[in-house]
Amino acid sequence: MTQTRKRFSIFRQNDVHKSGASRLAVPTPSETALGYDSEFPFSAWVSLWIDSAGRLNVNDYDPIAEVFDDVMGTDFHAATHQLRRHVLQEHFHGQELVCLDLCCGTGIFFSLLAKDWSIRGLGIDLSSRQVDVARARAQSHSSHLQYENGDVTRTGYPERVDLVTINFDALNHLRSAELWKQTFAKAYASLKRGGGLLFDINLLQRLQGDWNKPEIIIKKHLMYIQVAFPPVYNSDGIIRRTHMLVFSRMDCGAFRRVDAVVEHLAMPVDRVFSLLDNAGFREARIVEAYRNEPRGHIFNKNRAFLFAIK
Ligand SMILES: C[S@@+](CC[C@H](N)C(=O)[O-])C[C@H]1O[C@@H](n2cnc3c(N)ncnc32)[C@H](O)[C@@H]1O
Repeated sequence: MTQTRKRFSIFRQNDVHKSGASRLAVPTPSETALGYDSEFPFSAWVSLWIDSAGRLNVNDYDPIAEVFDDVMGTDFHAATHQLRRHVLQEHFHGQELVCLDLCCGTGIFFSLLAKDWSIRGLGIDLSSRQVDVARARAQSHSSHLQYENGDVTRTGYPERVDLVTINFDALNHLRSAELWKQTFAKAYASLKRGGGLLFDINLLQRLQGDWNKPEIIIKKHLMYIQVAFPPVYNSDGIIRRTHMLVFSRMDCGAFRRVDAVVEHLAMPVDRVFSLLDNAGFREARIVEAYRNEPRGHIFNKNRAFLFAIK
């Protein structure tokens, strides 16, 4: 077997590199450089290296909360909000809505919806720092928007809600089919009759195919690199972790590094329908599904948007 050896280097944890995209773009060889065998996936090497650091809590968005909007949140919602807005307009015809946003992150969804829709909303998120950003953002809205720090798999949901949302692959962050089932059941119980659950999911192909390559976002003042760990297959579907690494330019011109590891579960869409059915939803449909071609954002592919009605 021919083995091609390649070398690359990775900045060390917490390194701050003095002003300069050039320093970022051209990594300097150092003791952090790892050799890798082209027969063995690049991502697996990187993952092993990162895993060995063992310092990141899986699905903890606290470290990246400050840069989340800038890196991905704002752009992702800009690419997808019209679709959600359209589904809601068709179903609710502009009526005032009581909303519950599960895994709400920094509150972008409510903030966009409240621009031209009368809503009262509660958002819940595991990351206290994402919630801090959401609360700060809510202050600029006249709508009644509240945010709580909590785990949606453990906390209770309010009653008599018109709309429950789980946006931007947040459902994939719940790491077993049992947790999806319980979350659907709790969402169903919190909804009024005629209310709706709107969510999007990363499909199997996204975890299985797209994530075999690093995904990179480069802006003038930041760089985002996402590398996936090897997938794990079980009876629920595919479980796969990604390491999200961000270099962002600080006011002083130096770059700061922050990172997080998230774990996703993806399952066949038929299974999702069956879980919705078991939870009691009388109707569920895919409102849009994108395959390999990204729509408006690098993450918006191999993704389905679903709407279920109580
Ligand atoms: C990709 S972000 C999406 C955030 C937001 N839904 C949006 O559309 O911008 C995933 C979010 O899920 C949250 N999350 C993950 N697991 C959670 C859990 N068990 N309970 C509550 N929030 C959770 C994370 O803290 C993070 O803010």
